Amino acid sequence: MVNAHAPVFPDGFLWGASTAAHQVEGNNVGSDFWQAENHGTGDLADRSGDACDSYHRWPEDLDIVRDLGLNAYRFSIEWARVVPAPGHPSRAMLDHYRRMIEGCAERGLTPVVTLHHFTSPAWLRAEGGWTSEAAISHFTAYVRAVLPILDGVPWVCTINEPNMVAMMVTRRANGMGHADPSFVTPDPGMTAALSRAHAEARELLASVPGLRSGWTVANQNVQDHGAGPDRTAEMSYLIDDQYLDVAKGDDFVGVQAYSRLRAGRQGVIAPGPADRRTMIGWEYYPLGLEDAVRHTAARLGGSTPLLVTENGIATGDDGERIEYTREALTGLARAMADGVDVRGYLHWSLLDNYEWGSWEPTFGLVAVDRTTFRRTVKPSARWLGQLTQSPAAALGQGGAA
Ligand code: GAL
Repeated sequence: MVNAHAPVFPDGFLWGASTAAHQVEGNNVGSDFWQAENHGTGDLADRSGDACDSYHRWPEDLDIVRDLGLNAYRFSIEWARVVPAPGHPSRAMLDHYRRMIEGCAERGLTPVVTLHHFTSPAWLRAEGGWTSEAAISHFTAYVRAVLPILDGVPWVCTINEPNMVAMMVTRRANGMGHADPSFVTPDPGMTAALSRAHAEARELLASVPGLRSGWTVANQNVQDHGAGPDRTAEMSYLIDDQYLDVAKGDDFVGVQAYSRLRAGRQGVIAPGPADRRTMIGWEYYPLGLEDAVRHTAARLGGSTPLLVTENGIATGDDGERIEYTREALTGLARAMADGVDVRGYLHWSLLDNYEWGSWEPTFGLVAVDRTTFRRTVKPSARWLGQLTQSPAAALGQGGAA
């Protein structure tokens, strides 16, 4: 039963922004993605290079988050830095990430920490990657190494978007480009490996008092546009639901939503010239967030709390970012008013950052000068910060108590 008088966004709701290590830190030289950028097949347009130099400038980034009036920051720990060689974790790197966690606390920010955000150590790939014999024990050794620095971290995401990682394997195997809109079945071997890694990591993380762990799923909102209910359900199962099923019984599940996938008679209906599209080519569909949280809650039977760990838009027009985010949050408030248990909203992304092969799509609330690394807070960031002070009023009816 929904309490009509309870505020839609309760006290303690997390309002923040997200980043990922490889996309912002710079010089992540031990990772497999760095290898691909610098010694790969040459199909990536840009290199990450110094990225946003957040490896050194994280205190400035945290100051920005605090000064905007947000109360949470999601960032990731880089496995390749913490374990530069198998069996030899780096004390100095652990100290670095511990300082970031303490830096959050000092500023009154809740840290949301991801352990694996797409990148793995280059040495793991050389050993055969995630599906190799020893991969899970390498991952659990990494998790064991970070356990002591996670004291006081209430939210830990084990693996970011396992569904996208497993789909990437199929794409690579079939020589399909990153932006190819065709339907891709995630690689089953990769799915099995990541699911096991997630379960074993959760077991270890349970030893840290007060820590909640879960994984984050890229919710693709498969919608029936001619494919029929059976094929739509099958597609949804393959790319979303099997990963949500793994999250059953977890402390929370991270919801990441940007758009939707229209399942047509002949396969995926790619957004065309008639559709409004974002800078990255995705359909402009801010209702994707509402769809995603409703779908996730329904699939999990309502027993697992949700955390929106990513939502945002690639656009060169900051006014459009505000328009998109307002619509997304209005939809989120609607779902929450209907009883969907959402504990926070973390916008993707804090910074204009390295978008996995390209610097072009700008997702940031804050611009970063690629030469001086100077940060410039955009109006959308101030708008979001202000909204969080009294969201119900800011969103009108949809967010009203
Ligand atoms: C997600 C990913 C992020 C970011 C975002 C925008 O899939 O977790 O790292 O790149 O998409 O494309």
